Amino acid sequence: MEATRTRAEIPIHLESTNKGRRTCEVIIEDGILDNLGDEIAELSSSKDLGRRVVTVTDSHVGKLYGSKLLTGISKEFSSASSTIEIKAGEKSKSLVNASALCDKLAKLGTDRNSALIALGGGVVGDLTGFVACIYKRGIEYFQVPTTLLAQVDSSIGGKTGVDTEWGKNQLGTFHQPRAVFIDPTTLDTLPKKETINGVAEIVKSAIVADRRIFDRLCDAQESDLLSLETLKPLIPSVCRIKAQIVAKDETEVGPRATLNFGHTVGHAIESASSYSLSHGRCVILGMIAESWVAWQLDLFEERDFSRSQELLERLLNEIAVSQKARQLLGNKKELTRLAMSDKKSTTSGIRMSLPERIGRMSVGGPDGNYKVPVSNEMFVASINYLREHLA
Ligand code: NAD
Ligand code: GLY
Repeated sequence: MEATRTRAEIPIHLESTNKGRRTCEVIIEDGILDNLGDEIAELSSSKDLGRRVVTVTDSHVGKLYGSKLLTGISKEFSSASSTIEIKAGEKSKSLVNASALCDKLAKLGTDRNSALIALGGGVVGDLTGFVACIYKRGIEYFQVPTTLLAQVDSSIGGKTGVDTEWGKNQLGTFHQPRAVFIDPTTLDTLPKKETINGVAEIVKSAIVADRRIFDRLCDAQESDLLSLETLKPLIPSVCRIKAQIVAKDETEVGPRATLNFGHTVGHAIESASSYSLSHGRCVILGMIAESWVAWQLDLFEERDFSRSQELLERLLNEIAVSQKARQLLGNKKELTRLAMSDKKSTTSGIRMSLPERIGRMSVGGPDGNYKVPVSNEMFVASINYLREHLA
């Protein structure tokens, strides 16, 4: 029997004083990559089928899906579609590469009527979005995410950026894609070690905003927690969470800060490891520590705290946490320094986005915001808790 294709469409209605009303469509469908030309033609702001459409991808994804996508695009945009490939990996997310990409676009004759397609993980998505924002003061672009992390998180919401010598994502803009096309079948080729980065963001979204997703994850058998069979069906619900939060707060002045749960401690550990520990591992460690802080501050209900620790521990058992991670947790001075330089923190100290129940975040920050002040002593105590946990 032929399987029926299911399609989820999630419109994100955006409104800001300087950019006016816009809609970003998130469309999720197995095999959507085959018909991308039609989909883009349907949603484009320009109905000019002679417009130039340039796909940016990386050296891994290009080999796997580049020609498939180009075939789909060429059906509609016959005269002027081309592909630019960057080297796979975080190092490509640089200002130098952004500038080189702009030069290549100019040589191809890309104009303000043209559009870019970001085909790949978060690196390609962030870099392409950044270039789409600055090239000729902004052109249209589409996200076609191919990692789990990019499908449930980075492709949605319009955060773009590049890394600098002084840190990750230090230069960036908000520039919304016209649409995000998610083809979950592309995950079939994703290396297993990349899955954990997406799983961490799925668990985060569940604790932040959706108890039902959390329950489904808890119900998954131990060995199924990282399997695509468990994870793929969750993609639309997790995208919906992000879409709802971004629609309320495009530029992270309010509830979008909740998406940083686990990231104050997580980023400090990631940065202390000079980015040799994966983002997903660090965010899982961060969620364990920050849940504990929320419980210590009497924000997080006892039962939900225990349930969150149980799920996070199960995840920890499935991923190897290296000796290196354990060692890093000994350097509390450096971790505190890094947490204080986190973007949520202020001159008056460390801030964290903390849960009060599974599915609801605390507004325990000053003036009822989502950034709860945490003393340096409490931060260090949470690192000690984490160390004991990993011993
Ligand atoms: P990535 O883009 O480096 O992709 C990971 C690896 O998987 C790469 O080697 C890539 O070539 C490969 N790959 C991608 N799709 C594949 C597929 N389907 N099959 C086989 N291989 C595939 O990493 P990522 O985890 O997707 O993204 C990380 C980046 O995302 C970071 O730079 C981070 O700062 C950024 N990010 C941005 C946001 C945002 O809101 N903009 C949110 C979270 C993370
Ligand atoms: N990844 C967090 C955000 O997009 O706000």
